[in-house]
Amino acid sequence: MEKVLTIKDLNKNYGKIHAVKNLNLEIDKGCVFGILGPNGSGKTTTLGIILSVINAKSGSFSWFEEPNSKENRKRIGAILEQPIFYPYLSAVKNLKIVANIKEVSDSDIERVLKIVELYDRRDSKFKTYSYGMKQRLAIASALLGNPEVLIFDEPTNGLDPKGIAEIRELIIKIAKEGITIILASHLLDEVQKTCTHVAVLKSGEKLFSGKVSDVLNVSDSLEIASNNLELLSLALNEYKNVLDLKKEHNQLIIKLKEGTSAFNVNSYLVGKGIVVTHLAEKKKSLENQFLELLKERDD
Ligand SMILES: Nc1ncnc2c1ncn2[C@@H]1O[C@H](COP(=O)(O)OP(=O)(O)OP(=O)(O)O)[C@@H](O)[C@H]1O
Ligand SMILES: [Mg+2]
Repeated sequence: MEKVLTIKDLNKNYGKIHAVKNLNLEIDKGCVFGILGPNGSGKTTTLGIILSVINAKSGSFSWFEEPNSKENRKRIGAILEQPIFYPYLSAVKNLKIVANIKEVSDSDIERVLKIVELYDRRDSKFKTYSYGMKQRLAIASALLGNPEVLIFDEPTNGLDPKGIAEIRELIIKIAKEGITIILASHLLDEVQKTCTHVAVLKSGEKLFSGKVSDVLNVSDSLEIASNNLELLSLALNEYKNVLDLKKEHNQLIIKLKEGTSAFNVNSYLVGKGIVVTHLAEKKKSLENQFLELLKERDD
């Protein structure tokens, strides 16, 4: 797999604050990579370093498995903070200025405005845009020149639920076009909804990284009850797809083998002549998983 970014033993201090600690990371081409961590965990600092805006104390990083250069920097687009555009100029005029700075042809403007769905509003002044539209224009601006990688820092900060959904959909759409995405966020559900891979940071340290589906989707359990818990418990103990069973109040909590559904359990019980009075999937809230995961390292 082609590596878009490799980070090796990266460190950054601000006086006594060790903002990034021995960070190692590999990001494959085509993935949507989330850097997830609470406030102050070193996400923005890390992005600043890989964009050569902040100097690391030690360690190294390399884009596209090549030595760092101005040329490969052009293959990377970034949306870092509240975008700065001229309020009295239209989207098109603002993008013309950016295209000029980036030395990209004006003809790319139409393409990027269509991707972010601002083409119909292309002649409106920037100051008349909603927050969500401003954010989309920033994405359009970063897309000028057709970068292979797009970097986002907290892309949905300050947006309402509709704006948040639009930006997340847009990120997924851009990723589908083959652009690798690197996204920093303190929101677990943002990473869960948009990213394929994740690295979890805490106090500048990487707790772990991996596929979102492996890391964040810890096995779920089922709540189940019937008029005769003893009988139910016996039957479930015999069911090979039950990994764990415990009694809680007037119900049983069971953990199932991957791929076993509530439907499977119910069918099995019906086959045994047992009627359930309650059956509910108990999904561990992602927020809880995230908190647990951060807590583990405190112990
Ligand atoms: N310019 C700076 N001077 C001093 N300390 C800094 C500076 N920038 C960041 N820090 C410190 O470095 C640590 C990491 O900050 P950073 O902004 O990278 O975290 P973050 O994960 O992006 O947080 P947030 O979710 O709040 O954006 C924090 O303790 C922060 O206070
Ligand atoms: Mg930050």
